Amino acid sequence: MPEEVQSNGLREILRRYPTGVTVVTALLDGKPWGGTMNSFTSVSLDPPIVAIFVMEKSRTTTAINQTGRFVVNILKFDQEKEARQFATDSIQDKFQDIQYRESSNGIPVIDGSLGYIECDLLEARKIADHIMFLGSVSNSEVTRDEEALLFYRRAFRSFSEIP
Ligand SMILES: Cc1cc2nc3c(=O)[nH]c(=O)nc-3n(C[C@H](O)[C@H](O)[C@H](O)COP(=O)(O)O)c2cc1C
Repeated sequence: MPEEVQSNGLREILRRYPTGVTVVTALLDGKPWGGTMNSFTSVSLDPPIVAIFVMEKSRTTTAINQTGRFVVNILKFDQEKEARQFATDSIQDKFQDIQYRESSNGIPVIDGSLGYIECDLLEARKIADHIMFLGSVSNSEVTRDEEALLFYRRAFRSFSEIP
């Protein structure tokens, strides 16, 4: 099967798989940085390990490699603005108009999220044009018990908007 046809087919089925939306934050040259990521998954509860898959060329990859630490912020249904802003790589200051506090290790934790998972970098492995980051969870917190932001069929949605 030609490569293009194959990847179009893959896109079509992946679009039909709903995911949550996270913003992965870290420090880039000592300053807050973050990228929107839906490739987040839990790997193991005991020991607690999570994974994210990040484009090698992104500044989020550079930030994680610089500090060896990252935070996964789980977005709430009304945080589409944050999801879009952190997915825009042309922005100089990803945290413009974004309220946040710092974790005990100084990594940004975004206000208004459902909660966050803080990680020490356990392993980074190159897979095609992405890096698989495995994080050993050092801290996690549920901030509010509300609905998550979803990404489904190329759109941000809340549960009530799923057709
Ligand atoms: C819903 C959504 C999910 C995304 N998930 C990922 C992902 O899992 N991995 C990734 O590398 N980029 C993902 N992106 C694209 C990044 O958010 C975008 O490239 C971002 O600007 C990170 O690059 P930067 O750190 O250079 O800005 C996603 C974008 C959107 C809108």
